Amino acid sequence: MRKIKRSKEFEVILTINDDHFIRPPKDIQRNAVLNRALKEFVGDLKILDTQTKHFVPGATVETLKDDREQKIMEAQEIMEDWQIPLMQEMAKVIAEDGGDILEIGFGRGISAEMILKFPIETYTTIECNNDVINTYFKDFKEKHHTKRIKLVPGLWQDTIDGLDVFDGILFHTYPLNDDEYIQYVNGSVTFAEHFFLHAAKHLKPGGLFTYFSNEIDSLSREHQKLLLKTFLFFYNQSNSIGNA
Ligand SMILES: C[S@@+](CC[C@H](N)C(=O)[O-])C[C@H]1O[C@@H](n2cnc3c(N)ncnc32)[C@H](O)[C@@H]1O
Repeated sequence: MRKIKRSKEFEVILTINDDHFIRPPKDIQRNAVLNRALKEFVGDLKILDTQTKHFVPGATVETLKDDREQKIMEAQEIMEDWQIPLMQEMAKVIAEDGGDILEIGFGRGISAEMILKFPIETYTTIECNNDVINTYFKDFKEKHHTKRIKLVPGLWQDTIDGLDVFDGILFHTYPLNDDEYIQYVNGSVTFAEHFFLHAAKHLKPGGLFTYFSNEIDSLSREHQKLLLKTFLFFYNQSNSIGNA
């Protein structure tokens, strides 16, 4: 079985070698299913063409030569400026209704500043990098000394079990070394997947969880399936999801 979809820009050829592969009772059903799959793929390619026009070059991460857990980094290594508008969206989604907010990965404190502009009760962050803590977090804490701010130093993997539940959770870390890169980046459609169960466990009923995803504008079927394994609903404004 061979199917071809042609457009001005590309050609997609699907060759099915195994006669038993996708074999419903009728040929007409098989045709319909395969046509739908091809149509979805062609649609995806067109969307990717539009999305990639908005990409920025960003930094090239070839291999993580040094473990980043305690590495002393420039601001742009911690988070590149092009992500700042996304931080605004993510902060708004989880903090605009107030409550107790948890941020995983303090970084430069940019999203933290945005979160604090909303009428929240408490702000808690887990951060592993001592240099980030002694520079960015220290300044932030001094600037907002009247607010209820708590730092949990260390890896979230080692510390989160000691925390309670929150109204909003913002997850924005990165792989600290090659092992994490292989496991969390190469191993999933979204880096945040390894945090999903922890997010669900630490959200109050109706609480919101937001994270950064490389999928812009819509979520792939695989990504949606992953979310629905753990959460009851999601919406795709900065890929925010909720626990009910
Ligand atoms: C991309 S930055 C966060 C940027 C932040 N949203 C901002 O607006 O500045 C990621 C931060 O997560 C921290 N981090 C990475 N992995 C972590 C882990 N497993 N546990 C705790 N912190 C982690 C890094 O040290 C870094 O400070």
